[in-house]
Amino acid sequence: MRRLAVLASGQGTNFEALAHAGRRGELGGRIAVLVSDRADAPALERARRLEIEAIHLPPGRFRTRLEDEAPWVEALRAREIDTVLLAGFMRRLHAPFLAAFRDRVLNIHPSLLPAFPGLEAIRHALDHGVRVTGCTVHLVDDALDEGPILAQSAVEVRDGDTLADLEARIHAAEHRLYPWAVRRFLTEPWTREGRRLVFGAAAAAVAR
Ligand code: GAR
Repeated sequence: MRRLAVLASGQGTNFEALAHAGRRGELGGRIAVLVSDRADAPALERARRLEIEAIHLPPGRFRTRLEDEAPWVEALRAREIDTVLLAGFMRRLHAPFLAAFRDRVLNIHPSLLPAFPGLEAIRHALDHGVRVTGCTVHLVDDALDEGPILAQSAVEVRDGDTLADLEARIHAAEHRLYPWAVRRFLTEPWTREGRRLVFGAAAAAVAR
């Protein structure tokens, strides 16, 4: 069973959806630890309630990234983590983290990338007036919300939607999409062709 880590800064509802899927044997792996950069993140409390190890690691002096990624890599290596799942983790990762987990870091983002990368994606989509938005699971690389896309789910924007209405529907879509995408990533053969992730028999043929 592959050992997974979830990194979260906030509520942790995606973490919880992933944890439940793992318990049901639907994730292709088991969540071994939840790590947060915020000591007061509700995600930590959720993990304790689910009896999953919950640790807080100090992020250092910077606001948008980790000052020193080495202790984070060490903590995950010590727990023999295979794949890292970002779930509302509000800092960008760089080398050495991404080098240590090359092609093994996934993220969920609340828009149909490449539309509305960055912070407050749901608000930006609503303000822009798009009729369809959604969520995206992608591999993480050095550029913001840019890595190869694994899976997307579309969500309709309805007339009269408030931010809270749209957020609720996108979160529900995320909770379905992320576990499905993780399972596919961990259990099916895949290969990278430029920006594209190719799954299935074609990828298996390339791997041979
Ligand atoms: C989710 O909507 C996720 O897509 C978003 O934060 C929320 C976390 O919710 N992530 C980003 O915006 C990353 N740029 P949760 O803590 O309840 O899972």
